[in-house]
Amino acid sequence: MPFWTTVFVLCAAWPSALSVTRYSIAEEMDRGSVVANLAADLGLDPGGLAQREVKLDIFTNKKYLDFNKKTGELYIVEKIDREYLCPAKPTCFLKLDVIIESPLRIFNIELGITDINDNAPHFRRDRVELDVSESATPGERFSLPNAVDPDVDINTIKTYKLSVSEHFTIEIQTGSDGTQYVDLVLTKSLDREENAVHNLILTAVDGGVPVRSGTANIIVRVQDTNDNPPRFDKQIYTINMTENSPTGALVMKLNATDLDEGLNSEIVYSFTLYTSEKTQDAFALNPNTGEITVKGTIDYEDMKFYEMHIEARDKGAHPLLGQCKVVVHVTDMNDNYPEITIQSVKNTLDENIPVGIVIALVGISDRDTGDNGKVSLSIHQPMPFILNESSDRPMHYKLIVSEPLDRETVPEYEIMLIVTDAGKPPLSDNETITVHLLDVNDNAPQFPQSFYTIRVMENNAPGALLSSLTAFDPDLHENQYLVYFILEKEIANTSMSMLFSINPENGNLYALKTFDYEIEKEFLFHIEARDSGSPPLSSNVTVHIIIVDQNDNAPVIVSPWRAHGSVVEDKIPRSTDKGSLVAKVIALDTDSVHNSRITYQFLQVTDATLFSLDQYNGEIRTMRMFSYRDPRHQRLLLLPRTTGILLCLLQSPSSCPQWRLQ
Ligand SMILES: *[C@@H]1O[C@H](CO)[C@@H](O)[C@H](O)[C@H]1NC(C)=O
Ligand SMILES: *[C@@H]1O[C@H](CO)[C@@H](O)[C@H](O)[C@H]1NC(C)=O
Ligand SMILES: *[C@@H]1O[C@H](CO)[C@@H](O)[C@H](O)[C@H]1NC(C)=O
Ligand SMILES: *[C@@H]1O[C@H](CO)[C@@H](O)[C@H](O)[C@H]1NC(C)=O
Ligand SMILES: *[C@@H]1O[C@H](CO)[C@@H](O)[C@H](O)[C@H]1NC(C)=O
Ligand SMILES: *[C@@H]1O[C@H](CO)[C@@H](O)[C@H](O)[C@H]1NC(C)=O
Repeated sequence: MPFWTTVFVLCAAWPSALSVTRYSIAEEMDRGSVVANLAADLGLDPGGLAQREVKLDIFTNKKYLDFNKKTGELYIVEKIDREYLCPAKPTCFLKLDVIIESPLRIFNIELGITDINDNAPHFRRDRVELDVSESATPGERFSLPNAVDPDVDINTIKTYKLSVSEHFTIEIQTGSDGTQYVDLVLTKSLDREENAVHNLILTAVDGGVPVRSGTANIIVRVQDTNDNPPRFDKQIYTINMTENSPTGALVMKLNATDLDEGLNSEIVYSFTLYTSEKTQDAFALNPNTGEITVKGTIDYEDMKFYEMHIEARDKGAHPLLGQCKVVVHVTDMNDNYPEITIQSVKNTLDENIPVGIVIALVGISDRDTGDNGKVSLSIHQPMPFILNESSDRPMHYKLIVSEPLDRETVPEYEIMLIVTDAGKPPLSDNETITVHLLDVNDNAPQFPQSFYTIRVMENNAPGALLSSLTAFDPDLHENQYLVYFILEKEIANTSMSMLFSINPENGNLYALKTFDYEIEKEFLFHIEARDSGSPPLSSNVTVHIIIVDQNDNAPVIVSPWRAHGSVVEDKIPRSTDKGSLVAKVIALDTDSVHNSRITYQFLQVTDATLFSLDQYNGEIRTMRMFSYRDPRHQRLLLLPRTTGILLCLLQSPSSCPQWRLQ
């Protein structure tokens, strides 16, 4: 029999009507359990009860108890639930009146119902969600719901326990009415990024034996606070990019991370004030994506590297920052043509400029670097000039005359200088220096021949042009203007200038008088041509004038002699033999040997078969015997003549010799 079913009597046998008989029983006793023996306790005769009317008057809506008239025992007919009968009351009594008639007696009975631990603690909500800021400080408290246990005294809630937690504990406070209140207390700072949700179990425990308990899930959700700054994975990013990258080209994509959540982790990128204007002109930064793109012109020759100071800022109420640096190294491309700078140049040179003279200073440059900026200078075609790199000024050259120059050969040079860099592919440029050579009087006039033989017919007309003795001078201007004159040399008291004249300007040589071969036969003198340079140069030629004999004297027949204009008559016998000499004609000529070689010939013969004439010695011979039929008179017209012209005939035919046969 359980402990609580034991009947015990607090007081027994109270005096009649006003006295109250009290019992105490535990709740939840089984049906049929005897609570008390009223007959004994109230001093009634159990045997007499059977005839008497007994009535139980219970002041509840349920009939928990009944009375056994035979045994006089009060027993349980329905389990008594203390918590039902006396909800929320620390003590519980069931009052009933026992009414016994004949004679009437009324007994007041008070049945104390004692608690047993028949209820476990119970939370009205078994799942409680709690939002706690990440920034909550240790010691902060959060109310938790109570559990309830309808039992009383030790059977009701004695304490609460919390599952093991690094961050939380509970504290129990008891109100003035004895109610326990549970607070969740933060013992260690929270870190949402480490653990965003804490699942706790709160257990309420009563003091009964055995112990009963109830649990509730406490779910602590850590509310983010902006306690993590955006972070770049590197402090400095170094990037190579080639110059001339097109606008919009992606340089890099920044990726800062923020461990927080929501707005606290959303990042906006921007350049800080340390980023120069120039850099900001060259690059664009997308504030939302962190993409860095090309915005302006990336020119290695302008900027070799850029530094961008970038900050990432989250969108929290109190934003946090992260910073990084992006260093862009620009790589050179061969995009600049090499250049030639002509620093000084002599465009006109005396042709006799000495070899080794510097005529120009030339600088070369290329804005590129490395091989792209390595330049060399050369002369396009072989020329009488060379380049000599200056030993003290790199990239500077002297253009030097390397060979003697001659204006008369090449009057002008176009010196093309070519500069080439060593890039791939190489770029080159060129520049042309034009050099004009100035004339120097370095050429003497020159006659085409060094010796002139001029034949002049005697009987020339005075003032006749004999020849043109033109010399040539390849120089220019006054160095070329020639003056001609006759070099005087007295020959036999006769000045040549009396005989000849030369036009000083054009070298035309004239005879001043009429020459007679029969008096003067030749002249020898020099003509000089002199230019007008300073000093002048000259040259001379020898002129040999030969007077040419003219056949100006007709042959004169001297044998057989005859009077001028008469006819020679000769008689020859008819019997003359064939081949006999009839006559020998001799003619003489006063002209030169040449002109005086005389030949003879018939102009007229009566009978061509009779006479022959030796054309060289002038002998006339018979060719056959005469006959009687031959006329007595044979007329022979004979002409002596020189190799030249038939002067006798032309001048006076009548003076020509004639022969008559007798
Ligand atoms: C950038 O170029 C340099 C040489 O100019 C080289 O040493 C370096 O490795 C390059 N860096 C990258 C990221 O390409
Ligand atoms: C940024 O970096 C994180 C880790 O470092 C990575 O998970 C994420 O995909 C990256 N985002 C972009 C856009 O590259
Ligand atoms: C070039 O210049 C150097 C000195 O700078 C000199 O010694 C050398 O003779 C020069 N060469 C010519 C061809 O002028
Ligand atoms: C010189 O330069 C011009 C353009 O500046 C180019 O057309 C020409 O081909 C070059 N000449 C040489 C020989 O390089
Ligand atoms: C030149 O003339 C002079 C006088 O006029 C004379 O004495 C001289 O003998 C002449 N010479 C010749 C070579 O004829
Ligand atoms: C003529 O020229 C020659 C050289 O060609 C020179 O020797 C001579 O003296 C000159 N004659 C005169 C008279 O100048």
